[in-house]
Amino acid sequence: MISGLVLFVAIVTLNAAAVVLAPVKVLNDGNKMPMLALGTHNSTGEAAFTATVSAIELGYRHIDTAVIYENEEQIGRAIADVMKRGLVKRQDLFITTKIWNDKHSREDVVPALREALGRLNLTYADLYLIHFPIGEKANDKLADTDYLETWMGMEDAKNLGLTKSIGVSNFNSEQIDRIIANSHTIPAVNQIEVNPSLTQESLVAYCQKKGIVVMAHSPFGFMVDRESLESPPPAPDDPVLTKIAKKYGKTTFQVVLRYLVDRGTAPVPKSADQRRQKQNIDIYDFKLTEEEIAAINKFNSNTRVIKGVFWFDHPYYPFNKD
Ligand SMILES: NC(=O)c1ccc[n+]([C@@H]2O[C@H](COP(=O)([O-])OP(=O)(O)OC[C@H]3O[C@@H](n4cnc5c(N)ncnc54)[C@H](OP(=O)(O)O)[C@@H]3O)[C@@H](O)[C@H]2O)c1
Ligand SMILES: *[C@@H]1O[C@H](CO)[C@@H](O)[C@H](O)[C@H]1NC(C)=O
Ligand SMILES: *[C@@H]1O[C@H](CO)[C@@H](O)[C@H](O)[C@H]1NC(C)=O
Repeated sequence: MISGLVLFVAIVTLNAAAVVLAPVKVLNDGNKMPMLALGTHNSTGEAAFTATVSAIELGYRHIDTAVIYENEEQIGRAIADVMKRGLVKRQDLFITTKIWNDKHSREDVVPALREALGRLNLTYADLYLIHFPIGEKANDKLADTDYLETWMGMEDAKNLGLTKSIGVSNFNSEQIDRIIANSHTIPAVNQIEVNPSLTQESLVAYCQKKGIVVMAHSPFGFMVDRESLESPPPAPDDPVLTKIAKKYGKTTFQVVLRYLVDRGTAPVPKSADQRRQKQNIDIYDFKLTEEEIAAINKFNSNTRVIKGVFWFDHPYYPFNKD
């Protein structure tokens, strides 16, 4: 009897050891968010399905998508697959999706989310984000729809129970201040680009002061090929990163993710490769020192992967233009 129980406990422990779970944080609305998400931009078709299934098998519980990634349907099929196999229940997963620029009118928000939920085959999202503060018409022409109007639509969606939390993405501090001053809901999350070449110290500090969790998109910055002319440091074999990586027995990519975790942000690494997915979540058995965090902050060159140059002339363009 007792040995049977011990055996049972041992097997459960063994199973638990096979997956790594990211820590969870309570958002300002009381919901809990796993502090690492699988990025899925650039994963389309069958690859998006396979990548999502494999990530959930490895312990990822937070998936980041958007209507513009054109993979919500495949991600929905992946979620149904892992649930059918009993790996996870719906409430174990945290699904983030984003509204695109052409649905910024208040009355368009709820229908857009309902359509996303249809593709995802879900009854609710965990987090719905305004992808950019930029309004556009269906033909990509700029529209000056005020994001405050969009935010009211987001509140409608939350009130209807279609999403547990609402937030923004690529918003600057003035834009968030305007939301806070003119609405009933403080965004739960601001998903922004944060990586060693764009450390975002003031915007991260601002969000954290307001109780807004920062999700760090494009976490590898220019360590990966961005098909652009610039590739500011650090490169993957940068000596500063390599020295830290050697000390902890990790890769330089894992060091960068841990740097983002140690700054209190939730990184969103994209990988469609199972081996790299496993590395990207295997970052909870070490911690950087203050000096190491400061050394990585020194790479900052305010260089963006996502610049949105075609929106330069939009009144709500959120970034410095230099
Ligand atoms: N809100 C927004 O506006 C916004 C903008 C950009 C991105 N995002 C979100 O953030 C996510 C991440 O950004 P991202 O996709 O631009 O770039 P990323 O995660 O910084 O980098 C992805 C690239 O790194 C490679 N990679 C992943 N893990 C690696 C590792 N351990 N070692 C070496 N290479 C590795 C991937 O290749 P493999 O797949 O072959 O591993 C892929 O080429 C997106 O997928 C999306 O969900 C949001
Ligand atoms: C996106 O996918 C294309 C084609 O698979 C690839 O060439 C490119 O490097 C990818 N970009 C990123 C940032 O992952
Ligand atoms: C939609 O979800 C339900 C419940 O999880 C599942 O039975 C069904 O197979 C899913 N549909 C698709 C297309 O994945």
